[in-house]
Amino acid sequence: MKTTNEFSKRALITGASKGLGKEYAMQCAALGYELLLVSLPHSNIYGLGKEISNHFGIKVKCFEMDLTDFNQVSKLADEVNTMGELDLLINNAGCGGSGEFEQSSIDFIDRVLNLNVRATALLTRLLIPALKKSPNQSIVINVSSMAAFSPIGYKHVYPASKAFLLSFTMGLREEFKNAGISFSSVHPGPMLTNSDTARRIIQQGAMAKFCTLNTSEIAAISLKEAFAGKDVIIPGFGNQLSYWMMKLLPSKLVQRLITNGVRNEIKIYQVNPGFTIQPTI
Ligand SMILES: NC(=O)c1ccc[n+]([C@@H]2O[C@H](COP(=O)([O-])OP(=O)(O)OC[C@H]3O[C@@H](n4cnc5c(N)ncnc54)[C@H](OP(=O)(O)O)[C@@H]3O)[C@@H](O)[C@H]2O)c1
Repeated sequence: MKTTNEFSKRALITGASKGLGKEYAMQCAALGYELLLVSLPHSNIYGLGKEISNHFGIKVKCFEMDLTDFNQVSKLADEVNTMGELDLLINNAGCGGSGEFEQSSIDFIDRVLNLNVRATALLTRLLIPALKKSPNQSIVINVSSMAAFSPIGYKHVYPASKAFLLSFTMGLREEFKNAGISFSSVHPGPMLTNSDTARRIIQQGAMAKFCTLNTSEIAAISLKEAFAGKDVIIPGFGNQLSYWMMKLLPSKLVQRLITNGVRNEIKIYQVNPGFTIQPTI
């Protein structure tokens, strides 16, 4: 398996304007990658791209676009495929939230499924030609979540979308194992990405705080382990412990415990009826 030093090529990162995606962008730049950064319009991705380019002395190209729009995904893929090889694809953009299913808007459910599931699957499919052009083994990192490991009431489509990503990643990993593309699924637990997430993690209590890592730790662990060819990456001791507890305890009990936690969390957030549209564990 290759080491990180052997990579000095091109990486595409979705959701790169902030949070974990921004951290991936900076760490990939530090590793010498030329960057293709994607985020929604008006996220100042161009400003960030310029800063990274000046600081690390690497080429950065930014794309302001909505990944839930297939025409835009298709245009992006066409442009990337004409550039030559793609050595690293990080499907990081994702969204989710907590709330009662019957109160959640159709628009919200559609957006979670479109971004987390549809955009990831279609972009990956369309970029296979560029990934196959890499002279070394190329790498695809799909950012899932600890939520992939158990259904969770009041989060409905979010954990289901992240479980999709795990299954999708493992299937492609098997299919492409002799075709020069390595697939890894990353499962962050709580991350302090913005003030709302931070507030909710604090509300969730001691276990959530114990499992919380910052984005730079998660990016560093996941890049290192993906470069080493690991399939399922669970950053941090607290999350690994949670994973094994979820495996060992009866699944119905796990679902009830986690759902109770989320029910309590949304009671606190009744101030904002409907949904909190924030990425969640
Ligand atoms: N935060 C957590 O505690 C946590 C825990 C486990 C897993 N995760 C997962 O980790 C990943 C990153 O989470 P994060 O908290 O770092 O996210 P974040 O801070 O909310 O950033 C999301 C990024 O995705 C971009 N984005 C959102 N919708 C998009 C769309 N339709 N088209 C293009 N770009 C879009 C955003 O662009 P704008 O800046 O323009 O909005 C932003 O760059 C997600 O997949 C999330 O589900 C998060």
